[in-house]
Amino acid sequence: MKLTFHGHACFEVEASGHRVVIDPFLSQNPVADIGPESVQVEAILLTHGHGDHIADAEVIARKNNAVIVAPNEVALYFGSKGLTVHPMGNGGKWTFPFGTVKLTLAFHGAGLDADGQILHGGNPAGILLTMGDQTFYHAGDTALFGDMRLIGDLNHIDAAALPIGDNFTMGPEDAVLAAQWIHAGVTIPIHYNTFDLIRQDGGKFVESLAAHGLKGHVMEPGSVLEI
Ligand code: NI
Ligand code: MN
Repeated sequence: MKLTFHGHACFEVEASGHRVVIDPFLSQNPVADIGPESVQVEAILLTHGHGDHIADAEVIARKNNAVIVAPNEVALYFGSKGLTVHPMGNGGKWTFPFGTVKLTLAFHGAGLDADGQILHGGNPAGILLTMGDQTFYHAGDTALFGDMRLIGDLNHIDAAALPIGDNFTMGPEDAVLAAQWIHAGVTIPIHYNTFDLIRQDGGKFVESLAAHGLKGHVMEPGSVLEI
């Protein structure tokens, strides 16, 4: 599985000749390494309806004729724009041509900002994405919660992306605890250093993981990790 990080919470994930993107936030992201026009994928996976996760979903979906896989209300929103969508609910999984998606719990908000009007966005999610024989856990935006232990125990997770930005999500101290429960092959910090409110030290987070016997890896926008 090849993970390409594009800043904030956006990854392209590639395996067995398939490619998808998670949480595309590129055109309005000051630290993104590419624009949405460069993304070539067969599916767009969304964790929740906040702008910093869905901003470029529509343009990428139209250009690639790609399906949007998202929590139900977010999928309905994009479906109302005439896009192809696949709605899911937390705890549910579905196998697509590119792999299997299971939505996990995430504790966060989910309102959709439609031109200044906030629409009900359902429940936010994390994503367990299995492509080939490997699984990537993208926690979405979330607080620390005890059932992350269950996610780690029930799944063999090769790589996990955990938010460390604090303020809107868990911060680095809570994320170290989450990483211990999830015990992924490698843990990647995300959702930090995009804006002033979420300044954190990714290298220090990785050092804290190492102190607990866990492998961490800081990905700069544009960097690639083969797992
Ligand atoms: Ni959010
Ligand atoms: Mn966010």
